[in-house]
Amino acid sequence: MRDGDESRAGAALLDWYDRHHRGMPWRMPPAAKAAGARPDPYRVWLSEVMLQQTTVATVRGYYEKFTSLWPTVSDLARAEDADVMAAWAGLGYYARARNLLKCARAVLKDHGGVFPDSAEGLRALPGIGPYTAAAVAAISYDEPAVVVDGNVERVVARLWADETPLPGAKPVFTDYATRLTPAARPGDHAQAMMDLGATICSPRNPACALCPVNDFCAAHKAGIAASLPRKMPKPEKPTRQGTAYLARRRDGAVLIETRPPKGLLGGMPGFPTSGGVGPEIPPPLPAYWQNLGEVRHTFTHFHLVLQVMVAEVGNNATPWTGQFVAGASFDPAVLPTAMRKVWDLAAAAPAP
Ligand code: ADE
Repeated sequence: MRDGDESRAGAALLDWYDRHHRGMPWRMPPAAKAAGARPDPYRVWLSEVMLQQTTVATVRGYYEKFTSLWPTVSDLARAEDADVMAAWAGLGYYARARNLLKCARAVLKDHGGVFPDSAEGLRALPGIGPYTAAAVAAISYDEPAVVVDGNVERVVARLWADETPLPGAKPVFTDYATRLTPAARPGDHAQAMMDLGATICSPRNPACALCPVNDFCAAHKAGIAASLPRKMPKPEKPTRQGTAYLARRRDGAVLIETRPPKGLLGGMPGFPTSGGVGPEIPPPLPAYWQNLGEVRHTFTHFHLVLQVMVAEVGNNATPWTGQFVAGASFDPAVLPTAMRKVWDLAAAAPAP
């Protein structure tokens, strides 16, 4: 990208977005916006929080579930914590769900159920960081806030053929993104950058021949697009070992423990575990524990291997942690994925 080309590249990108934008349930297509419709900031915010670390394909179903259960931010603010955590189960990064609720309750209590209408105002809400504030302000209010996610970093690294490795390159890449952000239609511009990064300017095999801004792209000209952005090697993830205890009463009730509100899987239901995702603890009750094998799950910073121990216990067994939940009212869909794997392994095991 040469100095002075930014506005022509931005215009080419918007033109491409008008014709090729991806349809998404939370999106307001350019034609509808031109006719005066405005995106609902609640829906934009919800989708942006869900889309952090999660693919569009996965988010769709969760987004539909949330908006049908809680059509407005005030509905969400009044929801029970456990219902929201259950609806989030399987999406991962559960701190997002806890922050989602905190933020919704602040919008209801401090702003009468109406989202602040600027990036600065949004940033002051609990659980909204610079990325989310910028994305919601740009997409909902057409504030020329600069939106930088992994897709945008890849696009600008290539346009400017900048070989500085991430994460150190973030400030420079943000500066490129700022230069590219137009005063008109910044919300569509942000979404166009994301769509371009997700479809054409993809990580491994960019389809440069189809790219609306290939004329401006220094990496394409140099034949190095696929090698950018450069990244500092990540430290290898350690593997942690733990044990999960799945106790079932003879009447079918299952021992469930709600994890402490903070930390890994915070606030989520699961089976008592020792090590791996918490301290070493003794089994939840004395029983004949049978090892069914192990399940593996990868979190952001480590791999987890859990030995799955199961026991059948009497109907008046009293565990020192957790509570028995009647079999009929226990829905494994409320479990986070690591715990769901434990459940599925036990469900697949032959009866003792
Ligand atoms: N990823 C994060 N936010 C997005 C959006 N608004 N559109 C497409 N992909 C996204």
